[in-house]
Amino acid sequence: MEYEPSGLEIFLTHLAFKFCGKSVYNSFADRLPLKGRERVLDFGCGMGTVAYYTVQKLPYGHLTCLDISRRWLNSCRKTLRGYKNINYLLCEFPELEDESFDVIYCHFVLHDISESDLEKVIPALIKALKAKGIFAFREPLNETCKLNAIKHLLEKNRLFLKNSRITDIPIMGNALESLYIKE
Ligand SMILES: C[S@@+](CC[C@H](N)C(=O)[O-])C[C@H]1O[C@@H](n2cnc3c(N)ncnc32)[C@H](O)[C@@H]1O
Repeated sequence: MEYEPSGLEIFLTHLAFKFCGKSVYNSFADRLPLKGRERVLDFGCGMGTVAYYTVQKLPYGHLTCLDISRRWLNSCRKTLRGYKNINYLLCEFPELEDESFDVIYCHFVLHDISESDLEKVIPALIKALKAKGIFAFREPLNETCKLNAIKHLLEKNRLFLKNSRITDIPIMGNALESLYIKE
């Protein structure tokens, strides 16, 4: 399947997770406004790099890990083994229950999706977000066109910017991190 990662990609991601997990992935999970009871979606979870830190902030909540790749999702199950409050979804265009999540986040995912697919994916994600729910993303800053398309689609679908910052992430470089709220 064309979306499956190579062995090298998986190996390098494991290295980044092992040696820079806190500075790269936990730094994003830390910025999610979580109190511990929320229902959260990690869209494009990969091997569970961010999910590993997010689930620890959800002692009474629930995390859904979604990915298009079977191989990444299997790897994610291994990363998160032992946690009971997680379910795993293998799909490309999310078919999710309306207004079922308090927080949805994407970490280095949206820039990989074509603009025409983003036009389907972003509204589907927003539909699955509860009123006052949070949509968060972190994407590479040099993907200017894609970032503009993402911002446009979020605002067109009635999300409002809560805060935004540029951050320099070890290994990955400059990225834009934004939090939007659904009115
Ligand atoms: C660069 S990786 C990032 C993985 C993880 N979020 C992280 O930061 O380590 C991008 C991930 O998005 C997934 N992905 C790409 N397009 C997708 C789509 N349309 N639906 C779901 N997942 C997708 C890929 O399979 C991959 O796991």
